[in-house]
Amino acid sequence: MELVVATSNPHKIEEIDAIFREIGLLGVRLLTLKEAAGDVVIPEPAETGSTFEANARIKAKAYAAALQRHCLADDSGLEVDVLGGEPGVISSHYCTDGREEGMPRAERDRRNNERLLKELEDVPLEAREARFVCVMAIAAWVGHAARVVLDVRGTCPGRIGLPGDVPRGEHGFGYDPLFLVPPDYTRASSELSMDEKNAISHRGEAARFLGQLLSAGVVSL
Ligand code: IMP
Repeated sequence: MELVVATSNPHKIEEIDAIFREIGLLGVRLLTLKEAAGDVVIPEPAETGSTFEANARIKAKAYAAALQRHCLADDSGLEVDVLGGEPGVISSHYCTDGREEGMPRAERDRRNNERLLKELEDVPLEAREARFVCVMAIAAWVGHAARVVLDVRGTCPGRIGLPGDVPRGEHGFGYDPLFLVPPDYTRASSELSMDEKNAISHRGEAARFLGQLLSAGVVSL
């Protein structure tokens, strides 16, 4: 069975592929957008949902309809409890209140981090509970229509560090330099090796769960 991973990030495909192999799911061949679409550019659908689930489903369905193939899409971000779950679905554009303004990624990441630390001013460490969330959705192409057949959620709990202690670390992206990982909250996720991060990450958990469902035949494509 072939599944198109609707992302322009080749690293995500490698990670999902490695996890599927690790759990013994060998019957699924993952294809990149390039392999599935060739030179045809598929317009990215607008992420208009108010939840990670809604956005992952919108993307999976749009790509499955455009390609007429089974597609997997994901949506991820950071939830901070004391901020009522913000930045949530606007995580990548938090510094502009969710607006896409064409800012280069590195600058966007830096300004998102600054905004988050500002929002959490005066909040003590023990009240800075947060989690990374990743939702993966699969849309199947069946009966000449694209239908979402499942979504799964993976999470990675942690805490946002205090200014002065964070940002730090050399690896990762986004909010990693601010995100302290359990059990002792002394290391930021930007200080973990790729393997260490993959073992506890929200993306890893979602991919593992998805693979287990496919492997158990709970969902078949
Ligand atoms: P996307 O789903 O890849 O577009 O990610 C959405 C946004 O959530 C990113 O731009 C980051 O700001 C944040 N994010 C998602 N996953 C991670 C992670 O593993 N580390 C740090 N930030 C993340």
